[in-house]
Amino acid sequence: MDVPTLVTKLRRLLTAQLALAALFNDIPGDFVEAGVFTGGTSIIMAKVLERYDPSWGGTGGSGTSGPGGSGTAHAGQRSGGSSGGGGAGPPDGWRPAGRMLWAADSFEGTPAPVEQDNGGAAGMRSGFQGEYATSLETFKTNLKEFGLGQHLEAGRLRILKGWFNETLAGAPVQRIAFLRLDGDLYVSTRESLEALYDRVSPGGLVYIDDYGAYTGCQRAVHEFRQRRGIRSPLNIQPVPEQVMFVPPAEETRWAAAWWVKEPHEPTWPPLRPPG
Ligand SMILES: C[S@@+](CC[C@H](N)C(=O)[O-])C[C@H]1O[C@@H](n2cnc3c(N)ncnc32)[C@H](O)[C@@H]1O
Ligand SMILES: *[C@@H]1O[C@H](CO)[C@@H](O)[C@H](O)[C@H]1NC(C)=O
Repeated sequence: MDVPTLVTKLRRLLTAQLALAALFNDIPGDFVEAGVFTGGTSIIMAKVLERYDPSWGGTGGSGTSGPGGSGTAHAGQRSGGSSGGGGAGPPDGWRPAGRMLWAADSFEGTPAPVEQDNGGAAGMRSGFQGEYATSLETFKTNLKEFGLGQHLEAGRLRILKGWFNETLAGAPVQRIAFLRLDGDLYVSTRESLEALYDRVSPGGLVYIDDYGAYTGCQRAVHEFRQRRGIRSPLNIQPVPEQVMFVPPAEETRWAAAWWVKEPHEPTWPPLRPPG
């Protein structure tokens, strides 16, 4: 059975690889996906946790940080804030020991594109309001079909239902090992980066699914990296998958992009110069 997703095979593979890299490098923190739609890539992230993270019952990891692996939280910790929980699992503010997977989506599709979503290279998309609308029930049903219902019930897998601008900043996510952004549009990408990037651990992985496909997404990534002085190389998924032959100039069309948050990235907000 194939996972219910829009995401092409190579990007699914890249998603799994980055999730594994976060675990095998003992990067502390949760996994977060902003833009989950019917759940396909969330299922992949959950399956990696289930297989390799001790707090999900997995057998992998170096175990250096003790039970729970990531050391992100103490059992039963209350961290305050509202998760917008989506009705799944334990109450807001409570979190189990170990890593969590956060799944954020309006389930009503994308908001309206803005000016920054227009233009860009030939063939790139601008999107439209309500694209990829689905329902919370569909998402949950799909996860259960893949045997992940127990993690929803245990509160390891939490749903943040609503617009990113209303759910992400206040979500009780402390540290992030793998941030997977898939919100397509300028505003959605910018808001997810603004709300969550500072919580990504040094060495954590940031993946942008729509980098080569949506003008606004690419623009938001460039602006954010520039604004924050991020010099960690932007890795562009090398093989364009939708086409068999692509002239070099079009190589980044459709490509996903990712980078490693470097430990030495400048602090934000910038420190005042002395004197
Ligand atoms: C391309 S789909 C995600 C694909 C998914 N990862 C998969 O495996 O198929 C984009 C999703 O982002 C959501 N989305 C985009 N912008 C959003 C925003 N500002 N707030 C909440 N959800 C948003 C949409 O509802 C949609 O479900
Ligand atoms: C958040 O974004 C949505 C969708 O674009 C919009 O309808 C809503 O008014 C925004 N909320 C806030 C608090 O800005």
